[in-house]
Amino acid sequence: MLVAGVRSDDSPANGRRRWTPPRIGVLAMTSESSCVARAGSISAELGLPMVDSAEAWFDLLLLVGAESLELWEPGTDPFPLIPDREGLGEVRSPSVHPGRSSHVLRGCSGRETEAGRRAVGPLTIDFGHTGAASRRTVSASRAQPLARAVGLRRGTPTVVDATAGLGRDALMLASLGCSVVAIERSPVLGLMLRAALEQVAVNAERSGLPAPRLGLLVGEAGEVLEQLGEDRPDVVYLDPMYAGRRKSALPKKEMRILRRLVGNDADAADLLAVARRVARRRVVVKRPPRSRPLAAGVSISLTGKLARYDVYLTR
Ligand SMILES: C[S@@+](CC[C@H](N)C(=O)[O-])C[C@H]1O[C@@H](n2cnc3c(N)ncnc32)[C@H](O)[C@@H]1O
Repeated sequence: MLVAGVRSDDSPANGRRRWTPPRIGVLAMTSESSCVARAGSISAELGLPMVDSAEAWFDLLLLVGAESLELWEPGTDPFPLIPDREGLGEVRSPSVHPGRSSHVLRGCSGRETEAGRRAVGPLTIDFGHTGAASRRTVSASRAQPLARAVGLRRGTPTVVDATAGLGRDALMLASLGCSVVAIERSPVLGLMLRAALEQVAVNAERSGLPAPRLGLLVGEAGEVLEQLGEDRPDVVYLDPMYAGRRKSALPKKEMRILRRLVGNDADAADLLAVARRVARRRVVVKRPPRSRPLAAGVSISLTGKLARYDVYLTR
């Protein structure tokens, strides 16, 4: 529904459907013992079942490699096993379908799907060489709407990113000098973020550049924020999932998996209320450009190509 050019979040046509937590299976990427052992310990840590691709139907599969973590939405074909290039073991590849006929997965628990549908994904968190930004990148990034919205022009505030997601915004702010604590409530994303941050630390050590000051907590951000006491941050940043379709920096397939994993963050307004009580200086909320603010009381709005940043000053 469009009201005076503003897209309402509540329209069913706008994508708000009842979200049910996905059934997630853990699958070792190769038959190498180290890979199978890592998949086993992740399965135990997250309390998710280890699966063999052809045996059950899951909404999402966490594919565990010796060093990588990939989230896939399985198609109808089981992930076939193919020899890997180094010959270390067999690799499960959802993107390779060597001569498979169209059929649904065995043990598919009554769920019919379009025959021959290909797997969607992967969703990965790989910070690569980011985190060690050059001076030029830093000064360019400081002009971005998000950097201005958190108040980076006046110093380097302490920030809690209460909706960490894939950690991109948190890492960007940390790379610009902010001290950031990222909070994520999805245990799967929490695990993927932890692995990616460990890699950032290794890269920083190898390159001799300072690692970004970025901490991670896995849990309900509202509860964590309430318990911060004297450690309250200058800024709380929120980027909740949005019910409608929105242009995003994330490719479509990755967004589809993220949405299946975490839903629509229908409680975002409650989190904002807590954030406004806790933040010493301001709360910044990322919104689609033409959407309504999450709550009344926006002090300043900064609009970029893909997003608008609503700033709620708190002092
Ligand atoms: C759109 S994503 C954020 C993307 C992120 N800004 C980035 O740069 O990758 C929203 C994330 O916030 C998380 N989230 C939403 N509400 C939360 C809450 N109350 N506590 C912790 N995490 C929350 C969701 O699980 C989801 O992963």
